Formats: sequence, C-alpha cells, structure tokens
Amino acid sequence: MCGIVGYAGKRNSVDVVFDGLKKLEYRGYDSSGIAVIVDKELQVRKKVGRLYNLRSDILKNPITANIGLGHTRWATHGKPFEKNAHPHTDSTKSIAVVHNGIIENYIKLRNELLKHGQKFESETDSEVIVHLIKRNYKGSLLHAVQKTLGELKGSYALGVLCKYEPGRIVCVRQNAPLVIGVGKGENFLASDVTALLPYTRDIIFIEDGDVAEITAEKVIIRDIRNNVKNREIRNIRWSEAQAEKGDYRHFMLKEIFEQPRTIEETFRGRICPNEGRVHIEEIGLEDEYIKNISNIHVVACGTSYHAGLVSKFLFEYFAGIPTEVDIASEFRYGNSILNKKSLVIIVSQSGETADTLAALKLAKSKNCRTLAVCNVVGSSISREAEYVIYTHCGPEIGVASTKAFTSQLAILYMFAFDWASKRGKLTKERLKEYLSELWEVPLKISEFLKDIKLLQDIARVFVNKRDFLYLGRHVNYPIALEGALKLKEVSYIHAEGYAAGEMKHGPIALIDESMPIVAIAVKGRVYEKMISNIEEVKSRGGTVIALVSECDEEIVGKSDYVIYIPKINEFISPLITVVPLQLLAYYIAVFLGCDVDQPRNLAKSVTVE
Ligand code: AGP
Repeated sequence: MCGIVGYAGKRNSVDVVFDGLKKLEYRGYDSSGIAVIVDKELQVRKKVGRLYNLRSDILKNPITANIGLGHTRWATHGKPFEKNAHPHTDSTKSIAVVHNGIIENYIKLRNELLKHGQKFESETDSEVIVHLIKRNYKGSLLHAVQKTLGELKGSYALGVLCKYEPGRIVCVRQNAPLVIGVGKGENFLASDVTALLPYTRDIIFIEDGDVAEITAEKVIIRDIRNNVKNREIRNIRWSEAQAEKGDYRHFMLKEIFEQPRTIEETFRGRICPNEGRVHIEEIGLEDEYIKNISNIHVVACGTSYHAGLVSKFLFEYFAGIPTEVDIASEFRYGNSILNKKSLVIIVSQSGETADTLAALKLAKSKNCRTLAVCNVVGSSISREAEYVIYTHCGPEIGVASTKAFTSQLAILYMFAFDWASKRGKLTKERLKEYLSELWEVPLKISEFLKDIKLLQDIARVFVNKRDFLYLGRHVNYPIALEGALKLKEVSYIHAEGYAAGEMKHGPIALIDESMPIVAIAVKGRVYEKMISNIEEVKSRGGTVIALVSECDEEIVGKSDYVIYIPKINEFISPLITVVPLQLLAYYIAVFLGCDVDQPRNLAKSVTVE
C-alpha cells in the first residue's frame, strides 16, 4: 500500500506534495519520490527510506513548479531500492507515473515490452505502466492512459504527468483508493482525505474505472470509454486536529484516548436506550429478511477479525442466528455454505484490504446480502457492499488499530440487539437495559483512562520479556487474541492469545517465571473458571497480570498484578477490557523505543494479497 499526492495550481507543488506525503507516510515508508514539470521538462527526484531523505535532497537542490506528483512506497514488487521508488518514467523522460496497487499481469506485459526492445530500470510491476502509456501516446495523455488501462489487470490508483501537456495530471482509480480535492484555482489528488484537509474540504470520491483530468482550473472525470461521469463533491467535516496528533506523543495513544468519543459518535443517532430503539438508517435490510436470516458469515482480517469473533457470541446468544467468523484470506478459498438467506458482514477499517475485498466479491457472486462495517468513506469495500455503515471514528492513523476496533464492536452490538429484538428474542425492557449498558460504555472508558499509571508501571516491569500469553474465555477470548496482536504489532515481542480452557491441552507446558500471563477474568459466567486458570499458572511458578472487574476482592492474593476495569455486563465487557491491553502494548513499545505509529514491515491497510 502506497501514498499518492498530486497538485496543480498556483502554489509551489513541491511543498504541497511533501505536506501531503507526510500525512500519508503511514501508508508505506520504504522510499519516496516526486515528479514536477519545469519549463516543459520533467524533473524527478527519489530517495530510499523515510520521506525526510527526499526532503533533504530537495532542500539541497530546490525545485519550484506549479504541478507535481509524489509517492511514498510500501514495497510489493522489488525491494526498497531507489531504482524501485516511484515516480517511474519512460525512457525518453517524457512521462512520469506514480502507482498504488498491484499489476497482476505485469510479467506478461514486461516480457512483451522487452521483446520490443524496451529497457527497464526497476524490478517493479508499476514500471510497465509508464512504458505502455508512452507507447500509446499519440498526442493525448488522456487517451494514452485510457488505452493503457485496457491492457492492465489488477488494482491501480495512478497519477500521470507528461511534459508535452505540462498543465495537466491524469489520474485513475481501480480497486485502490484515490480521491480528488477541489480548490479555487487549484486542484489536488491523494490516496486519502487526510493529505488534503489543510487545503480543501471539498472532496470527490472517484469510483473504480474513473479516469480524471486535473488542471489548476478544472476537474473532468470520464470512464475508460471517454464518457463523462458526474461525481458529487462532498464536504468533509473532519477537523485537521482529528488527523493530527494533538498533544499526544503518538497517534496510537491519541486514538486510544479518543475511544470514549468515537464510540459515542458511533452510537449517536443510532441507539435510543429510553425508547428501547436501534435505528440504523444506512442499513436497508427489511425486517422480514432479518427475521429469516438463516446464517451470518462475518469476514475480516487481523483486528477486524477479532471484532467479528466477539460478534459471533452476540448474534448467537441474543439473536439466535448461527454465525461463522472467517479470516478473509481463508474464506476466499473455503467452501462456505452460502445462499441468498445468508448475510455476509464485512468488517474493515480501511475498506481497502485486498483479501477482505475479494471475499466480499465472492459473497456477492453467491447472491448473499452483504453489509460492510467501514471507517473510510468512499473506500472500495464501502462501495462494493450492498449496504455500508461507517464507524464515524475519523481517520485512524496509527497502524495498530484501536478506536476503529471498538467502533466496529459498537456497531456489531447494535446489530445484535436490534436483530434480537426484531426476531422476538429480546423484550423491549431487556433491549432498553442492554442499550443503556452500551450507552454507559464511553463514560466507563473515560473513567478508566483517568488513571493509567498502573499500566505504565506494569509495562516497565515486563518491558524486556520475550514472550507473553494472553488468556480469555467466551466473549473475552477474542480480546485475548486482540491484546496479543497489539503487543506483537507495536513492540515486536512474541505474544499469543489463547482460549483459557485450552491451557491443559498444551500451553500449560510453557508456564515458567519468564513468560507473563495476561488473564481476562471479569465477573460473569466464566469468572470462576478463569480464577482456576490463574491458580494453575501461579502453582507452576508463572507470573499473572489479571484484568478484573472493579470491587473484585476474590482476586486479591491470587495474581501478581491486578488491573481493575469498571463493572459492566459480561457480554458488553469486551468494549472495555480491550482498552488496558491496548495501553499495555503501547507503553511496552514506547519503553522499548519502537516506532509505535509505523511499526516495521506493517502498513495501515494491506491492499496486496
Ligand atoms: C490491526 O492492528 C492491524 N494493523 C491489522 O491486523 C488490521 O486489523 C488488518 O490488516 C485489517 O485491516 P482493515 O480493518 O483495514 O481491513
């Protein structure tokens, strides 16, 4: 996954492009580059490594232009060497291309070009694009690009410059994110909105298949057959602060602390505890359909998959709907029994995860109803699904997902309670009770976040451990998985989430004083069982960090460290139990000096398979 920024207007395009790339660096940071047109000549600079390497190069040899394209890369083909950095140019240095996505047939195209004597400078799939455009260029960049698209297979967001047409950028969106920013006497393009907010709030979410021409004065959108497409200009309300760190050291910490507000935003206008009502206007599933849903498949990756695992307990216990939860990359190759009475729920923060998008398309091909839970407006998944509900938690910049996860959970709780009520499984009174408990969650998380010193102290104690085991049962088993993933992602420490009941079936052999055990033991139907697990670990010399309900006195003396969370219904507790685990991972990573917001080898959205 890479970041693209383009600009045409009166400002110095180099500054605009850099500002934008800085905001997109979380999308990939192996290398970066910029292309501008000065006196009808293309100038291209690119550097391996972080964006400031390119910035330093430009400061040493400044360039000023009114049109430009920039790119920050997360390698998919070709190692992060300078030669593989974008923009790529044709052999005559007349055309420059930046690309985000994968060209699936690039080997065939490359061989065909090589056969015709074309030389290649890089190992990337992207380079074939610029040579094809050059080959198809007969005086119109737009037509050359349109013709080239007919030869490409795969996913591509493109920006193209041509020195023969110095005032114009041609851009394309196909299964990879790209948006256009509309200004006064200037226009922009970027991989996502955050890069454009300092300049404009008027955004066009172009569609897959759109080919846009951008000049300082206008934006014209067509399709590959040159038909003009009218796309809405949407005014984005996100404040810049939302996309900036504010007074937090890292985006991840900011986003953990944003959770009370983002969960509330997700609930706002959708649940009314006093009336015992859930109203999700975005979802047009008919009541009759909901009463007759035969089964639900929740499909996602990573943290979003963990949200799905929690929802299984909810849909089955409250709504009585058989529910399977699949990892998207497995769902694609499995043979799930799906029919038109099956509902497939796709969960994706970015809305661009390649495996999840492919799984969605597979579900549609089997005539299933599809519903997406996304955080990015206008993302590919949000457009592909029959219905989409947004988590309204604003841009999540930290690669490790936190606020998006709890917002995803919030939405899945709403569905479970709403559908349980519609299927006659939940009385109005019980619905009011559960909705009231949900509504209290933001306040309870705020309470918990008022004093996190204990978590910082625990993080310091265990910062040098090399292995962790996270244990949970029932609705908190997925939270054990999520807590382990958070630690792995940001601190690079090996951590495993496990169903606590499975301890005796193997993992108990691991117990010794070197490996801390995090046990989620909130009050509820599995509390006693969790206490037994904690005692098993202690009796074998293990060290336990227990996550328990406030006022729990039984735990005293049974665990080495105790983290108390506000009391809440056990079924709703995952919305809160995950927060201390997010913080534990965060502080261990900070104390280790890790790059918390941009962990090694990771990218915010995995748009490659
Ligand atoms: C989350 O902390 C991870 N960065 C990763 O597992 C992520 O959840 C996964 O890649 C799915 O992303 P999505 O929600 O954008 O589809």
